[in-house]
Amino acid sequence: MTSKASQATEASQPTKATTPPLWLLAELTYQCPLHCPYCSNPVNMEETFNELSTSQWKKVFREAREMGAVQLGFSGGEPLLRKDLEELVAYARELGFYTNLITSGIGMTEKRIAKLKDAGLDHIQLSFQSANADVNDLIGNKRHSFKQKLNIAKLVKAYNYPMVLNFCITAQNIREIEEVMTLSTELKADFVELATVQYYGWAYENREHLLPTQSQLVEAEQAINRYRDQQSGGPKFMFVTPDYYENRPKACMNGWGTTFLTVTPDGSALPCHSAKILPLTFPNVKDSSVQNIWEHDFSFNHFRGDDWMPSPCKTCDEKDKDFGGCRCQAFLLTGDMHKTDPVCDKSPDHHLMKTITDKAGQQASSTLKFRTVKNNIPVKMIQDLTV
Ligand code: FES
Repeated sequence: MTSKASQATEASQPTKATTPPLWLLAELTYQCPLHCPYCSNPVNMEETFNELSTSQWKKVFREAREMGAVQLGFSGGEPLLRKDLEELVAYARELGFYTNLITSGIGMTEKRIAKLKDAGLDHIQLSFQSANADVNDLIGNKRHSFKQKLNIAKLVKAYNYPMVLNFCITAQNIREIEEVMTLSTELKADFVELATVQYYGWAYENREHLLPTQSQLVEAEQAINRYRDQQSGGPKFMFVTPDYYENRPKACMNGWGTTFLTVTPDGSALPCHSAKILPLTFPNVKDSSVQNIWEHDFSFNHFRGDDWMPSPCKTCDEKDKDFGGCRCQAFLLTGDMHKTDPVCDKSPDHHLMKTITDKAGQQASSTLKFRTVKNNIPVKMIQDLTV
């Protein structure tokens, strides 16, 4: 693990920002009625109870919008747990944001969905844990949650929201991909993300169980293509595979500090939702304006451009395509946030990926860790439900 990168004061940092933060992710709360073992929230949940107030969030929205931000995602945890959600949505719409609610649906009622419509909410993204009710309820550790999600999906359509469904695909549910597509079609979804889990936060803790094998991924992709070939209308399916099996890294966040700004429940401003794991000190919106943070904070400037890049990125003719990959992944896998993302086969650490993927499907221990540390899920219980 590297020591903290040396930090300079805001005033001494000339900006390297060339674009404003177009996409603002407001993580309103880390509290959540579900406890999914692949949650991307931090494993350290200490910020849960120190949330920004309504007026502090409004200040963040105003400042980001003044800089040119256009998209605002309300996320969590479960954003429905904030009683001021409708007020925040209305304020964001008044400022001219395109607003998206990213929700498990638990806590939604018809009254609230109508109020959110009145507030001007543009878009709802609803997550499912499985197309199988028992597996869904077990993975989220919430009884009857599948039934509630079905009801919410119907309300989303009844209130004329565009509906994106999100299914987190893992080794536990990848074999049911056809059932997932059938359910999505029945629910009249507009878009469906079949998103193989990315290994950050709790998902990193549970990676050995969650990572599908390469042959499972190939079979799933074939099933999706067969389904698409037979479709005449219906949802658009997007299959997102884990980059662990790739030879080039993803252009994470479209490049550090170019497009995305995440604000966590306690007001930390981050270039990506996972960045708190890095040995950098991040600023807080309570202490500084969004513009000051975006343009002058050391942490935002640190990985902008290519001055920071090591070999082989520095001289690579693809560095403008992938920006050296993901800083959080480089840190998680090598202990050094400055290294080339090991997914890249030019990286001296690429052998790590084979060591990890060779273990997919072997499940060395018998339990998944829930998002809270209170309970574990016996993997066998899920397997018994899915065979
Ligand atoms: Fe943090 Fe990729 S998730 S840079």
